[in-house]
Amino acid sequence: MEWLREQKYRRIEDASEDEMNLLLSKVNRCPWRQTFHVQPVMGLLNDPNGFSFFNGEYHLFYQWHPLGPVHGLKYWYHTKSKDLVHWENAGIGLKPDAVFDRHGVYSGSANENDGKLHLFYTGNTRDENSVRHPYQCIAVMDSFGNISKLDKPVIDHAPSRYTEHFRDPKVWKDGNKFYAVIGAQRTDETGCAVLYSSLDLLEWTFEGEIGTELGRFGYMWECPDYFELQNHGVFIFSPQGLEPAGERYRNIYQAGYVLGGTLDLREKTLRHGPFAELDRGFDFYAPQTMVDPAGRRILIGWMGLPEIDYPTDPSGWAHCLTLPRELTVHGGKLIQQPVRELQTLRKKEARAADTIFNDAKRYEGFTGAAYELICEFATGDAAEFGIEFRAGDKNKTVVKYDAVQKKVILDRTLSGEPTGVEYGTVRAC
Ligand code: FRU
Repeated sequence: MEWLREQKYRRIEDASEDEMNLLLSKVNRCPWRQTFHVQPVMGLLNDPNGFSFFNGEYHLFYQWHPLGPVHGLKYWYHTKSKDLVHWENAGIGLKPDAVFDRHGVYSGSANENDGKLHLFYTGNTRDENSVRHPYQCIAVMDSFGNISKLDKPVIDHAPSRYTEHFRDPKVWKDGNKFYAVIGAQRTDETGCAVLYSSLDLLEWTFEGEIGTELGRFGYMWECPDYFELQNHGVFIFSPQGLEPAGERYRNIYQAGYVLGGTLDLREKTLRHGPFAELDRGFDFYAPQTMVDPAGRRILIGWMGLPEIDYPTDPSGWAHCLTLPRELTVHGGKLIQQPVRELQTLRKKEARAADTIFNDAKRYEGFTGAAYELICEFATGDAAEFGIEFRAGDKNKTVVKYDAVQKKVILDRTLSGEPTGVEYGTVRAC
C-alpha cells in the first residue's frame, strides 16, 4: 500500500489509543516476531543510533517510524542492556518536536562528556517546496535517563561545496578535541565524508573533506564511522549508488569499510586498502560501532534495507537490528564475531555426527525457531557440502560451500515469502 505524505508525517502523539492498540495486536499476531534481535514494538526500525555505554549500561537507540512499516516521520527509540543480550525497551528517546528536526530526528551517535551522554543527530527539515535543510544537533541525557535537546543546532548548514544530503554525525574524542565525521554529497552528486572538530561540543569548525583513494564512489555516503583498532584506521560508511560488480554490491545499497593507516587529522587523509562490504548477505545497512568498558569495538547494523518491501509489512512492522558483533583486525581484514555474552542464551545441547556421501541427511531433534548451530565438515574431496534449513516439501534455505568455485553460497530462492527478489535470491563470496 502506498502511504500519502500526510500519513507518513503523522505524529505518534496524534494517534488514538484505539489505533495504537489495533496496530499492536496486528504486530503481535505476526508469526515472524523475533526472539533475541532488537525489534520495534510496532512500525519500522532502521539505523542503530547512539550506541554507547553510559552509567553502567549499554544504550542503543534506533531510527523509528511508529505508525507503520514505512519510512515516515522518524523518532529515536531507546533500548538499554546490561549484557548486550537482554534489551529493555526504554521508550522514545528523541521526538521530532523542534523547528530544526520537525521532519525527522535522523541518525547520529553518542559520546559521554562531563558525566552526561551527548547525543548527536541530524535534524531533518523540508521547506514548502519539499527541499531538505539538515541541521546537526545535540541532545543531552543525564544519569537518570532524562534527555533534553539544546535549543539550537550546532551546525546549521552544509559548507557550500556540498548538497542538502548532509547527515549522520559520528563523534569521537582524540586528546582534548572532539571530532565528527558527517556523511555528505558533493555538488557534483558524488558521495564523501567531511570532518569537523570542536573543543567544547558547542562550537564546531569545518576541517575539510576526508581524502580517500576511492575517487567517485557512489552518489551519497550515509552513516560514516571512523575508529582505530589494533593500530589501523577503520572507516565504515554506507555508500549509495554503486553498480553491482560480479558477486559484490548486489544489494540496493552497500555498507562496508576501508582499512589502512590511521586518519591524519591535520591532512584529513586516509591511506587504505580496497573497499570491502561488511556483510555479503541480503539485509544489512547503516552499522554503527562503540567501544565498551573492556575496550572491545562492537558493531550493530540495521538488518534491513531501504526501498524494499518485507514480508512483515502487512503485520504493521518491519526490520530488526543485527546481533552485536565484536570487531578485530586479522590479515588486513575486519573480522566480526558475535559477542561472547550471547553464549549465555545456550540451553539444551544436541549433538550428531555422521558420514554422508552424495546424499542428504535429515536430523531430528534440531527443531525450533531459534537455535545456534555449530557445524564442522570434514570435506574430503566433496565438490560441495552444506546445510538446508527449514527444509520441507516446498521450502528450504541453503548455506553451502562450492569447493570447485571456492565460494560460500547463501540461497534463499525457496526460503518462503519472497523478499527483494529484484536484487536476486542468491549471494556468494
Ligand atoms: C540511512 C538513513 C540515514 C538517515 C536515516 C533516516 O538508512 O537514510 O542517512 O539519517 O536513515 O531514517
